[in-house]
Amino acid sequence: MTNLKDLFAAIVGADHVLTADRLSARDPGYCTDALGASVLVRPANSAELSRICKNARAHRLGLVPHGGLTGLVNGTASHPGEAIVSFERMSQILHIDALQGVAVVEPGVTLEQLQAALEPMGLMIGVDIPSRGSCTNGGMVSTNAGGIQVLRYGMMRQNVLGLEVVLADGRILDLTNVLIKNNAGYDLKQIFIGSEGTLGLVTKIVVKLWPVPAGTCCALVACQSSDDLPGLFDHARSSFGADLMSFEAMWPEYYQLTTSQPGFDRLPLPWGHGVYAIVEVCGTSRSDIEARLAAFIEPKIETGTVVDAVIAQSEAERRTIWRSREDSDSIDRVSDTSLSYDVGLQLADLSSFAKRLGERCAIQIPGLVPYVFGHVGDGNLHIMFAISESEFAQREIYDRLIYDTLSEFSASTISAEHGIGLEKRPFLVESVPPDTVAAMGELKQLLDPFNTFNPGKVLATVSVGPS
Ligand code: LAC
Ligand code: ZN
Repeated sequence: MTNLKDLFAAIVGADHVLTADRLSARDPGYCTDALGASVLVRPANSAELSRICKNARAHRLGLVPHGGLTGLVNGTASHPGEAIVSFERMSQILHIDALQGVAVVEPGVTLEQLQAALEPMGLMIGVDIPSRGSCTNGGMVSTNAGGIQVLRYGMMRQNVLGLEVVLADGRILDLTNVLIKNNAGYDLKQIFIGSEGTLGLVTKIVVKLWPVPAGTCCALVACQSSDDLPGLFDHARSSFGADLMSFEAMWPEYYQLTTSQPGFDRLPLPWGHGVYAIVEVCGTSRSDIEARLAAFIEPKIETGTVVDAVIAQSEAERRTIWRSREDSDSIDRVSDTSLSYDVGLQLADLSSFAKRLGERCAIQIPGLVPYVFGHVGDGNLHIMFAISESEFAQREIYDRLIYDTLSEFSASTISAEHGIGLEKRPFLVESVPPDTVAAMGELKQLLDPFNTFNPGKVLATVSVGPS
Protein backbone atom coordinates (compact mmCIF):
# COMPACT_ATOMS: atom_id res chain seq x y z
CA MET A 1 0.00 0.00 0.00
CA THR A 2 2.96 2.30 0.63
CA ASN A 3 3.66 2.02 -3.08
CA LEU A 4 0.19 3.19 -3.94
CA LYS A 5 0.42 6.03 -1.48
CA ASP A 6 3.73 7.15 -2.95
CA LEU A 7 2.45 6.67 -6.47
CA PHE A 8 -0.47 9.02 -5.92
CA ALA A 9 1.45 11.42 -3.65
CA ALA A 10 3.80 12.06 -6.55
CA ILE A 11 0.80 13.30 -8.52
CA VAL A 12 -1.38 15.18 -6.00
CA GLY A 13 0.95 15.76 -3.04
CA ALA A 14 1.11 13.67 0.14
CA ASP A 15 -1.54 15.75 1.89
CA HIS A 16 -4.13 14.70 -0.65
CA VAL A 17 -3.60 10.97 -0.32
CA LEU A 18 -5.57 9.68 2.65
CA THR A 19 -5.11 6.29 4.26
CA ALA A 20 -5.82 4.57 7.58
CA ASP A 21 -7.22 6.91 10.26
CA ARG A 22 -7.59 9.93 7.98
CA LEU A 23 -9.66 7.81 5.64
CA SER A 24 -11.77 5.93 8.17
CA ALA A 25 -12.66 9.14 10.06
CA ARG A 26 -14.63 10.41 7.08
CA ASP A 27 -18.41 10.26 6.73
CA PRO A 28 -19.35 7.35 4.45
CA GLY A 29 -22.72 8.91 3.56
CA TYR A 30 -25.56 6.55 2.69
CA CYS A 31 -23.29 3.65 1.71
CA THR A 32 -21.77 2.00 4.78
CA ASP A 33 -19.06 0.37 2.63
CA ALA A 34 -18.01 3.62 0.94
CA LEU A 35 -14.68 3.83 2.80
CA GLY A 36 -13.52 0.24 2.33
CA ALA A 37 -10.72 1.21 -0.10
CA SER A 38 -7.09 1.33 0.98
CA VAL A 39 -6.55 4.87 -0.15
CA LEU A 40 -8.40 8.06 -1.11
CA VAL A 41 -6.91 10.50 -3.63
CA ARG A 42 -7.96 14.12 -4.11
CA PRO A 43 -6.95 15.46 -7.52
CA ALA A 44 -7.02 19.23 -8.08
CA ASN A 45 -7.70 19.12 -11.81
CA SER A 46 -8.25 16.89 -14.81
CA ALA A 47 -4.52 16.73 -15.61
CA GLU A 48 -3.83 15.18 -12.22
CA LEU A 49 -6.79 12.87 -12.59
CA SER A 50 -5.52 11.79 -15.98
CA ARG A 51 -2.20 10.72 -14.41
CA ILE A 52 -4.07 8.94 -11.62
CA CYS A 53 -6.08 6.99 -14.19
CA LYS A 54 -3.01 6.01 -16.21
CA ASN A 55 -1.24 4.78 -13.09
CA ALA A 56 -4.28 2.97 -11.77
CA ARG A 57 -4.71 1.22 -15.07
CA ALA A 58 -1.05 0.25 -15.25
CA HIS A 59 -1.30 -1.26 -11.76
CA ARG A 60 -4.71 -2.84 -12.45
CA LEU A 61 -6.18 -0.83 -9.64
CA GLY A 62 -9.86 0.03 -9.39
CA LEU A 63 -10.86 3.70 -8.95
CA VAL A 64 -14.11 4.46 -7.14
CA PRO A 65 -15.38 8.02 -7.69
CA HIS A 66 -16.93 9.82 -4.71
CA GLY A 67 -19.14 12.91 -4.84
CA GLY A 68 -21.64 13.85 -2.12
CA LEU A 69 -22.21 10.19 -1.12
CA THR A 70 -25.98 10.53 -1.20
CA GLY A 71 -26.59 7.69 -3.66
CA LEU A 72 -28.93 4.93 -2.54
CA VAL A 73 -27.64 1.90 -4.46
CA ASN A 74 -24.15 1.39 -3.01
CA GLY A 75 -22.58 2.89 -6.10
CA THR A 76 -19.82 4.36 -3.93
CA ALA A 77 -18.86 1.12 -2.16
CA SER A 78 -15.11 0.54 -2.23
CA HIS A 79 -12.89 -2.35 -1.26
CA PRO A 80 -9.30 -3.02 -0.16
CA GLY A 81 -6.98 -2.77 -3.13
CA GLU A 82 -9.07 -0.01 -4.71
CA ALA A 83 -8.58 3.75 -4.54
CA ILE A 84 -11.31 6.30 -3.97
CA VAL A 85 -11.17 9.41 -6.13
CA SER A 86 -12.77 12.29 -4.27
CA PHE A 87 -13.72 15.42 -6.20
CA GLU A 88 -13.81 17.72 -3.20
CA ARG A 89 -10.91 19.84 -4.47
CA MET A 90 -12.55 20.24 -7.86
CA SER A 91 -15.43 22.36 -6.62
CA GLN A 92 -15.33 25.63 -8.51
CA ILE A 93 -18.13 27.26 -10.43
CA LEU A 94 -16.01 28.17 -13.44
CA HIS A 95 -18.36 30.30 -15.47
CA ILE A 96 -21.96 31.47 -15.65
CA ASP A 97 -23.24 32.87 -18.93
CA ALA A 98 -26.75 34.23 -18.45
CA LEU A 99 -27.28 35.09 -22.12
CA GLN A 100 -26.26 31.67 -23.39
CA GLY A 101 -28.05 30.09 -20.42
CA VAL A 102 -25.21 27.87 -19.27
CA ALA A 103 -23.07 27.32 -16.20
CA VAL A 104 -19.75 25.52 -16.34
CA VAL A 105 -18.93 23.77 -13.08
CA GLU A 106 -16.46 21.33 -11.64
CA PRO A 107 -17.89 18.04 -10.39
CA GLY A 108 -17.43 18.75 -6.67
CA VAL A 109 -19.82 21.74 -6.64
CA THR A 110 -22.92 20.82 -4.65
CA LEU A 111 -26.35 21.40 -6.09
CA GLU A 112 -27.14 23.89 -3.33
CA GLN A 113 -23.95 25.87 -4.03
CA LEU A 114 -24.90 26.17 -7.68
CA GLN A 115 -28.50 27.09 -6.80
CA ALA A 116 -27.23 29.80 -4.42
CA ALA A 117 -24.88 31.25 -7.04
CA LEU A 118 -27.62 31.36 -9.67
CA GLU A 119 -30.45 32.69 -7.54
CA PRO A 120 -29.38 36.37 -7.48
CA MET A 121 -29.28 36.24 -11.26
CA GLY A 122 -32.86 34.94 -11.43
CA LEU A 123 -31.57 31.67 -12.83
CA MET A 124 -31.66 28.04 -11.74
CA ILE A 125 -30.82 24.57 -12.88
CA GLY A 126 -33.78 22.42 -13.85
CA VAL A 127 -32.95 19.42 -11.70
CA ASP A 128 -33.68 19.62 -7.99
CA ILE A 129 -33.43 16.73 -5.55
CA PRO A 130 -33.98 16.44 -1.79
CA SER A 131 -30.27 15.79 -1.11
CA ARG A 132 -29.37 19.18 -2.64
CA GLY A 133 -27.23 20.21 0.37
CA SER A 134 -24.69 17.41 -0.14
CA CYS A 135 -25.12 15.94 -3.61
CA THR A 136 -22.60 17.14 -6.18
CA ASN A 137 -23.00 18.01 -9.84
CA GLY A 138 -20.59 15.22 -10.73
CA GLY A 139 -22.69 12.68 -8.87
CA MET A 140 -25.85 14.06 -10.44
CA VAL A 141 -24.38 13.62 -13.91
CA SER A 142 -23.04 10.15 -13.27
CA THR A 143 -26.38 8.98 -11.85
CA ASN A 144 -28.59 10.97 -14.24
CA ALA A 145 -30.35 12.50 -11.25
CA GLY A 146 -34.08 13.17 -11.56
CA GLY A 147 -35.91 14.54 -8.53
CA ILE A 148 -38.97 16.64 -8.03
CA GLN A 149 -39.17 18.77 -11.20
CA VAL A 150 -38.63 16.20 -13.93
CA LEU A 151 -42.12 16.86 -15.26
CA ARG A 152 -41.15 20.34 -16.39
CA TYR A 153 -37.38 20.25 -16.83
CA GLY A 154 -36.40 16.61 -17.38
CA MET A 155 -33.56 14.66 -15.74
CA MET A 156 -29.83 15.46 -16.00
CA ARG A 157 -29.73 13.94 -19.47
CA GLN A 158 -31.96 16.76 -20.68
CA ASN A 159 -30.01 19.41 -18.76
CA VAL A 160 -26.37 18.74 -19.55
CA LEU A 161 -25.04 20.40 -22.70
CA GLY A 162 -21.44 19.37 -22.38
CA LEU A 163 -18.86 17.48 -20.34
CA GLU A 164 -15.17 16.99 -19.93
CA VAL A 165 -14.40 13.37 -19.18
CA VAL A 166 -11.21 11.55 -18.27
CA LEU A 167 -11.04 8.13 -19.87
CA ALA A 168 -9.45 5.06 -18.33
CA ASP A 169 -6.35 5.39 -20.53
CA GLY A 170 -5.88 8.96 -19.27
CA ARG A 171 -7.16 10.80 -22.33
CA ILE A 172 -9.13 13.91 -21.51
CA LEU A 173 -12.18 14.01 -23.72
CA ASP A 174 -13.34 17.55 -24.45
CA LEU A 175 -17.10 17.40 -24.87
CA THR A 176 -17.61 20.82 -23.29
CA ASN A 177 -20.25 21.98 -25.71
CA VAL A 178 -22.10 25.20 -24.75
CA LEU A 179 -24.30 25.35 -27.84
CA ILE A 180 -28.01 24.70 -27.54
CA LYS A 181 -28.02 22.67 -30.73
CA ASN A 182 -25.06 20.57 -31.74
CA ASN A 183 -25.68 17.56 -33.90
CA ALA A 184 -22.11 16.92 -35.03
CA GLY A 185 -21.71 13.18 -34.78
CA TYR A 186 -22.49 10.86 -31.89
CA ASP A 187 -23.61 12.54 -28.69
CA LEU A 188 -20.87 10.95 -26.59
CA LYS A 189 -21.71 12.82 -23.40
CA GLN A 190 -24.88 10.76 -23.04
CA ILE A 191 -22.79 7.61 -22.63
CA PHE A 192 -21.24 9.05 -19.49
CA ILE A 193 -24.44 10.53 -18.04
CA GLY A 194 -26.06 7.86 -15.90
CA SER A 195 -23.20 5.36 -16.26
CA GLU A 196 -22.39 5.68 -12.54
CA GLY A 197 -18.70 6.35 -13.01
CA THR A 198 -18.07 3.05 -14.79
CA LEU A 199 -17.08 4.43 -18.21
CA GLY A 200 -15.26 7.69 -17.52
CA LEU A 201 -14.78 10.29 -14.79
CA VAL A 202 -16.48 13.62 -15.31
CA THR A 203 -14.26 16.66 -14.62
CA LYS A 204 -16.29 19.54 -16.04
CA ILE A 205 -20.00 19.99 -16.63
CA VAL A 206 -21.85 22.45 -18.84
CA VAL A 207 -25.33 22.66 -17.44
CA LYS A 208 -28.33 24.37 -18.98
CA LEU A 209 -29.90 27.25 -17.03
CA TRP A 210 -33.55 28.21 -16.70
CA PRO A 211 -35.22 31.42 -15.53
CA VAL A 212 -36.62 31.13 -12.00
CA PRO A 213 -40.41 31.30 -12.34
CA ALA A 214 -41.85 34.58 -11.02
CA GLY A 215 -44.07 32.71 -8.60
CA THR A 216 -44.34 29.16 -7.32
CA CYS A 217 -46.94 27.67 -5.02
CA CYS A 218 -48.16 24.23 -4.06
CA ALA A 219 -51.20 22.47 -2.71
CA LEU A 220 -51.35 19.33 -0.63
CA VAL A 221 -54.35 17.36 -1.82
CA ALA A 222 -55.80 14.26 -0.15
CA CYS A 223 -57.83 11.72 -2.09
CA GLN A 224 -59.93 8.81 -0.98
CA SER A 225 -57.81 6.26 -2.78
CA SER A 226 -54.55 5.99 -4.69
CA ASP A 227 -56.74 4.90 -7.63
CA ASP A 228 -57.65 8.58 -7.92
CA LEU A 229 -54.05 9.64 -8.66
CA PRO A 230 -53.91 9.11 -12.45
CA GLY A 231 -57.15 11.05 -12.95
CA LEU A 232 -55.98 13.85 -10.66
CA PHE A 233 -52.63 14.00 -12.47
CA ASP A 234 -54.38 14.16 -15.83
CA HIS A 235 -56.57 16.98 -14.52
CA ALA A 236 -53.41 18.81 -13.29
CA ARG A 237 -51.74 18.40 -16.69
CA SER A 238 -54.72 19.84 -18.54
CA SER A 239 -55.27 22.61 -15.95
CA PHE A 240 -51.67 23.84 -15.78
CA GLY A 241 -49.89 22.61 -18.91
CA ALA A 242 -46.19 23.47 -18.79
CA ASP A 243 -46.72 25.40 -15.53
CA LEU A 244 -47.02 22.11 -13.65
CA MET A 245 -43.68 21.81 -11.82
CA SER A 246 -44.26 18.72 -9.67
CA PHE A 247 -46.84 16.09 -9.00
CA GLU A 248 -45.69 13.96 -6.10
CA ALA A 249 -47.55 11.50 -3.92
CA MET A 250 -47.34 10.00 -0.47
CA TRP A 251 -49.23 6.96 0.68
CA PRO A 252 -50.71 7.49 4.18
CA GLU A 253 -48.10 5.45 6.08
CA TYR A 254 -45.29 7.54 4.58
CA TYR A 255 -47.06 10.83 5.27
CA GLN A 256 -47.60 9.77 8.88
CA LEU A 257 -43.95 8.68 9.18
CA THR A 258 -42.49 11.98 8.02
CA THR A 259 -44.97 14.25 9.77
CA SER A 260 -44.49 12.43 13.09
CA GLN A 261 -40.99 13.89 13.26
CA PRO A 262 -40.15 17.02 15.24
CA GLY A 263 -41.02 20.25 13.45
CA PHE A 264 -44.61 19.47 12.53
CA ASP A 265 -46.48 21.32 15.29
CA ARG A 266 -49.45 21.55 13.00
CA LEU A 267 -50.10 18.98 10.28
CA PRO A 268 -50.76 20.44 6.84
CA LEU A 269 -53.56 17.85 6.55
CA PRO A 270 -54.71 15.20 9.05
CA TRP A 271 -53.49 11.60 8.87
CA GLY A 272 -55.63 8.77 7.60
CA HIS A 273 -56.62 9.79 4.08
CA GLY A 274 -56.17 7.33 1.21
CA VAL A 275 -53.31 9.17 -0.47
CA TYR A 276 -51.72 12.64 -0.51
CA ALA A 277 -50.51 14.52 -3.58
CA ILE A 278 -48.35 17.61 -3.79
CA VAL A 279 -49.20 19.70 -6.83
CA GLU A 280 -46.70 22.46 -7.45
CA VAL A 281 -47.34 25.08 -10.09
CA CYS A 282 -45.46 28.12 -11.32
CA GLY A 283 -46.87 31.34 -12.73
CA THR A 284 -46.71 35.10 -12.73
CA SER A 285 -47.55 35.65 -9.06
CA ARG A 286 -48.40 33.71 -5.93
CA SER A 287 -51.96 35.05 -5.81
CA ASP A 288 -52.55 34.06 -9.42
CA ILE A 289 -51.28 30.54 -8.77
CA GLU A 290 -53.33 30.22 -5.58
CA ALA A 291 -56.44 31.08 -7.56
CA ARG A 292 -55.54 28.55 -10.24
CA LEU A 293 -54.89 25.85 -7.63
CA ALA A 294 -58.25 26.57 -5.99
CA ALA A 295 -60.00 26.30 -9.36
CA PHE A 296 -58.16 23.01 -9.98
CA ILE A 297 -59.21 21.49 -6.64
CA GLU A 298 -62.84 22.68 -6.49
CA PRO A 299 -64.46 20.41 -9.11
CA LYS A 300 -62.62 17.41 -7.65
CA ILE A 301 -64.05 18.15 -4.21
CA GLU A 302 -67.50 18.30 -5.74
CA THR A 303 -67.09 14.88 -7.32
CA GLY A 304 -65.69 13.48 -4.08
CA THR A 305 -62.27 12.58 -5.53
CA VAL A 306 -60.51 15.11 -3.33
CA VAL A 307 -61.48 14.76 0.32
CA ASP A 308 -59.26 17.42 1.81
CA ALA A 309 -56.80 20.01 0.52
CA VAL A 310 -54.66 22.91 1.61
CA ILE A 311 -52.98 25.55 -0.52
CA ALA A 312 -49.74 26.92 0.96
CA GLN A 313 -50.37 30.51 2.06
CA SER A 314 -46.72 31.41 2.53
CA GLU A 315 -43.25 30.19 1.65
CA ALA A 316 -43.02 28.70 5.17
CA GLU A 317 -46.19 26.66 4.58
CA ARG A 318 -44.90 25.57 1.21
CA ARG A 319 -41.68 24.36 2.81
CA THR A 320 -43.57 22.44 5.48
CA ILE A 321 -45.60 20.62 2.84
CA TRP A 322 -42.43 19.76 0.95
CA ARG A 323 -40.72 18.55 4.12
CA SER A 324 -43.47 15.98 4.53
CA ARG A 325 -42.48 14.61 1.14
CA GLU A 326 -38.70 15.08 1.13
CA ASP A 327 -37.75 13.84 4.59
CA SER A 328 -37.46 10.16 3.74
CA ASP A 329 -34.59 9.99 6.25
CA SER A 330 -37.36 9.95 8.88
CA ILE A 331 -37.21 6.20 8.54
CA ASP A 332 -33.89 6.19 10.39
CA ARG A 333 -35.69 7.37 13.51
CA VAL A 334 -38.01 4.37 13.61
CA SER A 335 -35.73 1.47 12.69
CA ASP A 336 -32.20 0.05 12.95
CA THR A 337 -31.89 0.12 9.21
CA SER A 338 -33.97 0.31 6.08
CA LEU A 339 -34.26 -0.83 2.50
CA SER A 340 -35.12 1.52 -0.31
CA TYR A 341 -36.47 0.75 -3.78
CA ASP A 342 -37.02 2.89 -6.83
CA VAL A 343 -39.41 1.34 -9.32
CA GLY A 344 -40.96 2.73 -12.48
CA LEU A 345 -44.32 1.80 -13.95
CA GLN A 346 -46.94 3.17 -16.30
CA LEU A 347 -49.16 5.78 -14.65
CA ALA A 348 -52.20 3.54 -14.84
CA ASP A 349 -50.37 0.80 -12.89
CA LEU A 350 -48.94 2.80 -9.97
CA SER A 351 -51.88 2.34 -7.63
CA SER A 352 -52.34 -1.36 -8.47
CA PHE A 353 -48.64 -1.94 -7.83
CA ALA A 354 -48.86 -0.38 -4.37
CA LYS A 355 -51.96 -2.41 -3.58
CA ARG A 356 -50.48 -5.69 -4.79
CA LEU A 357 -47.33 -5.01 -2.80
CA GLY A 358 -49.40 -4.35 0.32
CA GLU A 359 -51.26 -7.62 -0.18
CA ARG A 360 -48.04 -9.60 -0.64
CA CYS A 361 -46.52 -8.00 2.47
CA ALA A 362 -49.60 -8.80 4.56
CA ILE A 363 -49.44 -12.45 3.54
CA GLN A 364 -45.68 -13.02 3.65
CA ILE A 365 -44.53 -10.75 6.48
CA PRO A 366 -47.56 -9.67 8.52
CA GLY A 367 -46.95 -6.29 10.10
CA LEU A 368 -44.40 -5.18 7.48
CA VAL A 369 -45.29 -1.68 6.30
CA PRO A 370 -44.28 -0.58 2.79
CA TYR A 371 -43.68 3.17 2.96
CA VAL A 372 -44.61 4.33 -0.52
CA PHE A 373 -44.03 7.76 -2.02
CA GLY A 374 -42.62 9.23 -5.17
CA HIS A 375 -42.79 11.13 -8.38
CA VAL A 376 -46.19 10.11 -9.69
CA GLY A 377 -45.94 12.38 -12.71
CA ASP A 378 -42.84 10.42 -13.77
CA GLY A 379 -44.31 6.99 -13.02
CA ASN A 380 -41.67 6.56 -10.32
CA LEU A 381 -42.39 5.15 -6.86
CA HIS A 382 -39.99 4.77 -3.97
CA ILE A 383 -40.71 2.09 -1.40
CA MET A 384 -38.95 1.82 1.94
CA PHE A 385 -39.03 -0.94 4.55
CA ALA A 386 -38.02 -0.22 8.14
CA ILE A 387 -36.28 -3.37 9.36
CA SER A 388 -33.86 -4.72 11.97
CA GLU A 389 -30.24 -5.69 11.34
CA SER A 390 -31.17 -9.39 11.48
CA GLU A 391 -33.93 -8.86 8.94
CA PHE A 392 -31.46 -6.97 6.78
CA ALA A 393 -29.34 -10.11 6.63
CA GLN A 394 -32.25 -11.71 4.79
CA ARG A 395 -32.82 -8.85 2.44
CA GLU A 396 -33.51 -11.12 -0.53
CA ILE A 397 -36.97 -11.75 0.96
CA TYR A 398 -37.75 -8.04 0.70
CA ASP A 399 -36.14 -7.73 -2.72
CA ARG A 400 -38.35 -10.54 -3.98
CA LEU A 401 -41.46 -8.92 -2.53
CA ILE A 402 -40.75 -5.84 -4.61
CA TYR A 403 -39.51 -7.42 -7.80
CA ASP A 404 -42.05 -10.26 -7.90
CA THR A 405 -44.80 -7.67 -7.56
CA LEU A 406 -43.15 -5.58 -10.28
CA SER A 407 -43.06 -8.54 -12.63
CA GLU A 408 -46.88 -8.67 -12.60
CA PHE A 409 -46.84 -5.48 -14.68
CA SER A 410 -45.96 -5.47 -18.37
CA ALA A 411 -43.91 -2.25 -18.51
CA SER A 412 -41.71 -1.63 -15.51
CA THR A 413 -38.18 -0.84 -14.40
CA ILE A 414 -36.28 -1.75 -11.24
CA SER A 415 -34.72 1.71 -11.26
CA ALA A 416 -36.49 4.83 -12.44
CA GLU A 417 -33.86 7.22 -11.08
CA HIS A 418 -31.43 5.87 -8.45
CA GLY A 419 -29.49 3.64 -10.81
CA ILE A 420 -28.03 0.18 -10.29
CA GLY A 421 -24.78 0.54 -8.33
CA LEU A 422 -23.85 -2.63 -6.53
CA GLU A 423 -27.15 -3.08 -4.78
CA LYS A 424 -29.52 -3.48 -7.71
CA ARG A 425 -27.06 -5.27 -9.98
CA PRO A 426 -28.47 -8.79 -9.52
CA PHE A 427 -31.86 -7.49 -10.66
CA LEU A 428 -30.74 -5.62 -13.78
CA VAL A 429 -31.37 -8.74 -15.85
CA GLU A 430 -35.00 -8.68 -14.70
CA SER A 431 -35.43 -5.19 -16.08
CA VAL A 432 -33.42 -5.26 -19.28
CA PRO A 433 -33.27 -7.87 -22.09
CA PRO A 434 -30.12 -10.09 -22.20
CA ASP A 435 -28.85 -8.57 -25.46
CA THR A 436 -29.06 -5.12 -23.89
CA VAL A 437 -27.02 -6.20 -20.87
CA ALA A 438 -24.50 -7.77 -23.28
CA ALA A 439 -24.25 -4.52 -25.28
CA MET A 440 -23.66 -2.60 -22.05
CA GLY A 441 -20.83 -5.04 -21.26
CA GLU A 442 -19.30 -4.50 -24.71
CA LEU A 443 -19.35 -0.74 -24.20
CA LYS A 444 -17.67 -1.13 -20.82
CA GLN A 445 -15.04 -3.43 -22.35
CA LEU A 446 -14.35 -0.92 -25.11
CA LEU A 447 -13.92 2.11 -22.88
CA ASP A 448 -12.52 0.47 -19.77
CA PRO A 449 -10.95 -2.88 -20.70
CA PHE A 450 -9.07 -3.27 -17.42
CA ASN A 451 -12.09 -2.46 -15.28
CA THR A 452 -10.45 0.58 -13.73
CA PHE A 453 -13.60 2.63 -13.18
CA ASN A 454 -15.98 1.78 -10.33
CA PRO A 455 -15.39 -1.98 -10.66
CA GLY A 456 -18.41 -4.20 -10.22
CA LYS A 457 -20.97 -1.40 -10.30
CA VAL A 458 -23.88 -1.68 -12.74
CA LEU A 459 -22.40 -4.77 -14.43
CA ALA A 460 -20.76 -7.86 -12.98
CA THR A 461 -17.33 -7.24 -14.47
CA VAL A 462 -14.33 -8.96 -12.97
CA SER A 463 -12.35 -6.80 -10.58
CA VAL A 464 -8.67 -7.11 -11.36
CA GLY A 465 -6.97 -5.85 -8.19
CA PRO A 466 -3.41 -4.53 -7.89
CA SER A 467 -0.60 -6.36 -9.67
C1 LAC B 1 -36.53 11.16 -3.28
C2 LAC B 1 -35.31 10.31 -3.39
C3 LAC B 1 -35.38 9.14 -2.47
O1 LAC B 1 -37.22 11.31 -4.26
O2 LAC B 1 -35.13 9.88 -4.70
O3 LAC B 1 -36.80 11.64 -2.17
ZN1 ZN C 1 -36.80 10.29 -5.98
